Amino acid sequence: MANQYTYLAPLLAPTDADQMLAIAEGLRRFGTYADEGTSDGLGETLPQRFDVGFNYLSRGLDGEGCCDEASVALGRTNYFRETYVYGDEQQVDGIESFANHALIGESARALADASVLVPAIVYANILVPGQELAIHTDVPEFRGLNRKNAPQWLLVCMLHSKLFESWRVPIATCVAWFGGNAGGAFTFYPEGAAGRRESIAADHNTAIVLDTDRVFHGVERVKSASLEETSSDRIADVGSGATLEFVGDGRWHMQTSGGDDCVYHWADLRYSISWKGYCFKSAISHRKWQHGEECLSIPQVLEIFEKDLLARGITDAGALSPNEYAQKIVDTYVGFPPGNRH
Ligand SMILES: [Fe+2]
Repeated sequence: MANQYTYLAPLLAPTDADQMLAIAEGLRRFGTYADEGTSDGLGETLPQRFDVGFNYLSRGLDGEGCCDEASVALGRTNYFRETYVYGDEQQVDGIESFANHALIGESARALADASVLVPAIVYANILVPGQELAIHTDVPEFRGLNRKNAPQWLLVCMLHSKLFESWRVPIATCVAWFGGNAGGAFTFYPEGAAGRRESIAADHNTAIVLDTDRVFHGVERVKSASLEETSSDRIADVGSGATLEFVGDGRWHMQTSGGDDCVYHWADLRYSISWKGYCFKSAISHRKWQHGEECLSIPQVLEIFEKDLLARGITDAGALSPNEYAQKIVDTYVGFPPGNRH
């Protein structure tokens, strides 16, 4: 399953595709993804996705190392995000043509070999010039454990360890691009971390459906259509508190808490809308999830990891501090792609 994806181009009727831009404009204001809360107990002083951040700093997007200082690197990867649909709650008007798109649903079902598909969320990401997204896999879910009650890095390690497959809730993802930034290609490893890396341009009204919980992926650097080419390498300090606000005439105003501000046009921005749906192979697994049957707990997870670490000859895990333990789990189970394999 990990080496499969479906490319959809064009995705929507032209007027519906234009409507996707109008939805972002209508929302007016985007905040950043930075502060989703911190982990409790395990690695509690680490960022939620420290697995990705540390790898990015040491290897960069192309495996050649990141030349930025840590704070600049974080600004590069802290993009803007807003949610359009969450479960049954539609938070913006006009998203139906995307949220209920038959081809997205069919592709997701086929990809996951699912008999029951439950749409979960639709959200938008906007990256500004100079930003890119580190190679990562998304945060998966298991019966009983998800990002609301477990550290995100732990959930990621659980998936890559393959020790928790019978509790996993498979999720299919569709990423669609609108506006057409000259850079910001979607880059991914469809054959697995050891395979070749492919890139798909973020062309207007195109999309990919794949399992982003398993397939390593990222976003190449976003280019500006109106600023000097070299300006794309400079990036404002898009830390927490930064906002991106639509100010009319196709222009967006970004303001950071550090006092940076900049006006962008649509063509400068890399705008994507993501759809995620739960993919159940059988009515039984759907029912177990619906009714909260056979759920995992954190102590159970740690016990399973402990047994496996022992079987691998790692005997000192119990003596590690929470942060060291978290790092050990990431190092043991998450096999990042070695670098650029274009
Ligand atoms: Fe992702």
